[in-house]
Amino acid sequence: MALAVKGLEGVVAAETRLSFIDGEAGILEFVGIPIGELATHSTFEETVFLLWNVRLPSKAELSAFVSQVRANYEPPADLVKLIQAMPKDAQPMHVMRTLISALGLYDPQPNKIDSPALREKALKALACAPTILAYFDRHRRGLPMVHPDKNLGIAENFLYMLNGQRPTPTMARALDVCLILHADHGLNNSTFTARVIASTQSDIYSALTGATGSLRGPLHGGANEGVMVMLNEIPSVDAAEKHVLEKLAKKDKIMGFGHRIYKSYDPRATHLKVLAKQLAKDTGNEGLYEKSHRIEQVMENAVAAKGIYPNVDFYSATTYHCIGLKLDLFTPMFVAGRIAGWSAHIIEQLADNRLFRPDADYVGPHGVEYTPLEKR
Ligand code: SDX
Repeated sequence: MALAVKGLEGVVAAETRLSFIDGEAGILEFVGIPIGELATHSTFEETVFLLWNVRLPSKAELSAFVSQVRANYEPPADLVKLIQAMPKDAQPMHVMRTLISALGLYDPQPNKIDSPALREKALKALACAPTILAYFDRHRRGLPMVHPDKNLGIAENFLYMLNGQRPTPTMARALDVCLILHADHGLNNSTFTARVIASTQSDIYSALTGATGSLRGPLHGGANEGVMVMLNEIPSVDAAEKHVLEKLAKKDKIMGFGHRIYKSYDPRATHLKVLAKQLAKDTGNEGLYEKSHRIEQVMENAVAAKGIYPNVDFYSATTYHCIGLKLDLFTPMFVAGRIAGWSAHIIEQLADNRLFRPDADYVGPHGVEYTPLEKR
């Protein structure tokens, strides 16, 4: 019996044509296109089409896809009633997990898993997830819902529904880039979860629900909230070094750093750092960016030699804060972007499926006698 590989580190569990990651060189490509090209020239909607069709769309195809997405911004009416019945103090990630699961209740054929059916379900989930989040946030604040505007793209429309007014083009584009950067990332834990569930030929709602549950974890998508908590704990830029070194001395993990695959700078962090710096300047949050930058310098001196660098979550925290998102909306924003990748992987898994069922190395005793209850 082979020895267990803890955390499946280095185990190749699938073939994919979606993301390519070179952890040593710090390279990320979606369908072969460098992430920097997409962050600079593409939109989230075009990136979703790329992941779901494993090619870029023509102009006409993109226009048709965008229209389809916008036609599905509004969730089912009865699901909106569920949102309005949600406890106002419920955590948004628990709300997202619950309502993504609830989408299956209003689908007349929730268990269909042929590729066209999966695409249709994925599109509806991707299109209405931001609306669900905005509706819940307005509900918990006691504000009237702001219905989606089909003239707006996903990022701009989300900020419009959240704040009741259109965002600036800079803020809309910043969130659009965040969604692109978060769209996919190989067999990360939540995507692997989605593929494991899909591999039983279960339904897409079960797979997306499981993936959302995984992403909430502080070691995964929840790290972006953890970064913001840390930034709020550190009273000043000068206090950053002491704070970080004390945590390292206690073997605490610094949120937003380290990665199972990247042993170099996460290329997404490179773009998010630029975005964070610009938005911090535009919104008078320079102190937040300076604190982040100082933490990065301290970590570079302390642990870069161990291959521990900023990951996607480190500068997304400052970026989301400057866009005006509350801390507990950071990870739900990650969900809104990653639904694209989860769905692409579910489609890819079912196109050439084999049930995931690894083995375990039993290390317990054998031949143990059953001791009757009266003798225990
Ligand atoms: C995401 O997989 C993906 O692609 C995920 C993701 C995606 O797009 O889907 O990229 C998104 O989840 C990014 C990661 C967000 N998580 C965090 O920022 C949480 C903090 N990071 C760590 O918990 C950790 O780096 C992980 C979980 C990300 C990776 O963990 P590993 O590969 O299991 O590494 P490990 O915990 O075994 O650590 C190896 C060593 C240890 O030191 P030693 O015991 O060998 O001396 O590195 C140290 C760890 O203590 N280490 C850290 C650290 N991360 C690792 N030390 C301090 N701070 C950290 N953040």
